[in-house]
Amino acid sequence: MGTQIFSEELVKKLRSASSVAVLTGAGISAESGVPTFRGENGLWKKFKPEELANFQAFIRNPQLVWEWYQYRRRIIEIIRPNPGHYAIAEMERRHENFTVITQNVDNLHIHAGSKDVYELHGNIMRNYCIDCGKNANDDEVLRCDTVPHCACGGLVRPDVVWFGELLPEKPWNAGVKAAESAQVFFAIGTSAVVYPAAELPRIAKRAGAYTVEINIERTELSPFVDEVLLGKSGEILPQLVEAVY
Ligand code: OAD
Repeated sequence: MGTQIFSEELVKKLRSASSVAVLTGAGISAESGVPTFRGENGLWKKFKPEELANFQAFIRNPQLVWEWYQYRRRIIEIIRPNPGHYAIAEMERRHENFTVITQNVDNLHIHAGSKDVYELHGNIMRNYCIDCGKNANDDEVLRCDTVPHCACGGLVRPDVVWFGELLPEKPWNAGVKAAESAQVFFAIGTSAVVYPAAELPRIAKRAGAYTVEINIERTELSPFVDEVLLGKSGEILPQLVEAVY
């Protein structure tokens, strides 16, 4: 693990910032053992999103889609937050307003102790009925190998956002508000290609935030941000906390 160099500007801005926001993606959880979607061993290289992550696919083959989410739940159930998640939770304690906006569905920010977390793409441990909308989150449903049915007869689906679906309004609005008011904004472990989430760092930049990207490689976002920190978030973030606070 190399020693990360942070700009004086970032250190200074963070020390004086009352409002900070972070947008995280699959990369923040990679060091916990959650596979990312894109990149070298990305899930979308082996599986087809059009067969697994949209509503039509679910109606066509609910059992296949249910099994895919059960497979991912089994991974997520046994993993723990990594030093990147813990560093973000620590940063929250140092600023008056600190918002975590995540595209991840894995609960790891919450498990690490972050309080102000907005899930843009839902949560894999929740489900609801496609007909009556009732939540179906008990253990029996989460353990079910075959796609469950609600008492009303409707199919139960995971509470995650699929391609072509709108983001839940409350976390999206909170994300926009945080991006607009942040003095420092981080985009961490996201390829920044899935919209509207990828719009948030750009909103923050336009509103005057100092924008920082943390990623193991450059992305489409890199040319737009003020500072790119190349490396693993689980290594860079603890060093940042050490350097700043
Ligand atoms: P991606 O899989 O598209 O991108 C993960 C990013 O994390 C890549 O840019 C990697 O380079 C980077 N990365 C990998 N390991 C890292 C590490 N240890 N430290 C820092 N960065 C690392 O994931 P997202 O951007 O989250 O949508 O994908 C966005 C959405 O696309 C997901 O929420 C999901 C997917 O389809 C839905 O399920 C709706």
